[in-house]
Amino acid sequence: MKQADTKSKAAVAKPRIRITDTTLRDAHQSLWATRLRTDDILAIAEKVDNAGYYSLECWGGATFDVCMRFLRENPWERLRLIKGVCKKTPLQMLLRGQNILGYKHYPDDVVERFVALSCENGMDIFRVFDAMNDPRNLETAIKAVKKYGGHAQGTICYTVSPVHTVENFVAFAKQQEAMGADSIAIKDMAGIMTPAAARDLVSGLVKAVKLPVQIHSHMTSGMAVAMYLEGVKAGAGCVDCAISTMSSFSSQPPTESLVAIFEAEGYDTGLDHKLLAEINAYFTELKKKRAPKTTAREPVDAGVLEHKIPGGMISNLRSQLDQQGALDRLPEVMEELPKTRADMGYPPLVTPTSQIVGIQSVLNVLFGRYKQVTQETKNYVKGLYGRAPAPLNAKVAKKILAGEKPITCRPADLLKPGLGAAAKEIPSKLVQKEEDILSYCLFPEVALGYFKWRAQPEGERDPIPADLEREEKTAEAAAPAAAIPEETEKLAGIGARFIELIGLVGGGKVNVEALAVKPAAAPAPEPEAKPEAPASAPTGPTINAPLNGTFYRSAGPGKPELAKEGDKIAAGGSVCIVEAMKLFNAIKAEKPLTVVRFLVEHGAPVTKGQPLVEVKY
Ligand code: CO
Repeated sequence: MKQADTKSKAAVAKPRIRITDTTLRDAHQSLWATRLRTDDILAIAEKVDNAGYYSLECWGGATFDVCMRFLRENPWERLRLIKGVCKKTPLQMLLRGQNILGYKHYPDDVVERFVALSCENGMDIFRVFDAMNDPRNLETAIKAVKKYGGHAQGTICYTVSPVHTVENFVAFAKQQEAMGADSIAIKDMAGIMTPAAARDLVSGLVKAVKLPVQIHSHMTSGMAVAMYLEGVKAGAGCVDCAISTMSSFSSQPPTESLVAIFEAEGYDTGLDHKLLAEINAYFTELKKKRAPKTTAREPVDAGVLEHKIPGGMISNLRSQLDQQGALDRLPEVMEELPKTRADMGYPPLVTPTSQIVGIQSVLNVLFGRYKQVTQETKNYVKGLYGRAPAPLNAKVAKKILAGEKPITCRPADLLKPGLGAAAKEIPSKLVQKEEDILSYCLFPEVALGYFKWRAQPEGERDPIPADLEREEKTAEAAAPAAAIPEETEKLAGIGARFIELIGLVGGGKVNVEALAVKPAAAPAPEPEAKPEAPASAPTGPTINAPLNGTFYRSAGPGKPELAKEGDKIAAGGSVCIVEAMKLFNAIKAEKPLTVVRFLVEHGAPVTKGQPLVEVKY
């Protein structure tokens, strides 16, 4: 840094452009299924710290989750260790506003404490975003960052729709400025921003907002390098890049190329070319060990230029349709998706809205529009994720809500404080520090799995999942590429998170505990639940599985326990649940009925058309 500073002073006339390095977060999330380990980072951290970056993005939802789930590492410890080496360059993280690092809204006490501990452990810059661009979902996080001495970067999730105009984006940035944001990021998560759009939006921001502007994009569509240049010429002061071997494809633009471009334009990047080359050599070598063997990607996904749907989302849709034996309907889903998104008021497509809109589109194609609605879609329409950018399709909303009233307040206002309850849920012998309680709040099952692993005596611990995974991958190196791994992981996590959401808003209709039982780990059936459904064929009418998935009983009407035989269910009441594509589909009674018997065990896999419940009307 010292060298860089002297250099920049010597060249006073040169305008400064700064670069944030995403290699330690977004780049390996986009390319290596988030499998970069703490030791991998520490071995190069000193050089990275000395290179002259504006900041080092090194923490976010997937990194935190994968640390515990696959690497058996404590993400907090990773942060402390990086901070221990990187003393010159600020550390940066991606924070999903009220969702923190998860997929649901957390109570304010959890948000505030998470931010406090992150600051305490060395985080400097918080890029705070909300999938809906709803300022109310950013407020608590931004205030907390300011309170604990961090840099609060507000964020515009960039998307294209009739309501996403420069004026609206600028107005949103001004709201964040008023909340105390220190800078504004344009987050082009799908890599769909054109150079012209960057010029217009950055110019608009620079005129109206007194905050530095930073741009984040992905190389998915191939436009990001040109877009960065236009954005910087229009006044952006910082862009996100990854070291070249960790760049491009669905990752960020390459640092070295951008440095060359900016320097030729007369900008001073302050970056040390020699160190960049050394850092790149390190990651090129590491790639042999860490890059997934089965990943085959196109360098540019030109389809994105047409349909503007993020690449990861399409691979999800493909695998969801595949699970349903309906891969041939992908073109219809691609056509349906923009329509569903319009009905939902044009949310930007980023976790969790990308999953909600994506899966609802699949259901709309498979069963007819809004014939089958996920609980998450219903929650969305109720306003539990925040306010949509545009009004929802009123007819669709009315049908989905079926008489229920949408909320008008900030979603988190409905939540009771969460830390105390979480602390009581974890066996105290598993907790070492307060940070463990936060880890548990965000990823309950994953954190508990990690805590239990950690509690085993050293030397007797189970193998690390990521190591096992590598052995398997090496063994079947020829296996076909599946969905983008990090997206699959997001989905794997989202099921569990959504269970909690259902618990929050389901009005007692769903037995959360029962649902949380994973089929693979299902304990012996409870005494009152009939262990075996009779093998004989049903004689009366049946409710059949509308899609392939996992069967669950609903909770009885207004009761916490599972539905049982003999229960009477009113028209519109939930008879049972089929979990498919990681989301929970309540199967509703079309008219009043009595449950005669369950034909499938709670937690068992079912195939489309399979009789689930025998009923009497
Ligand atoms: Co990104």
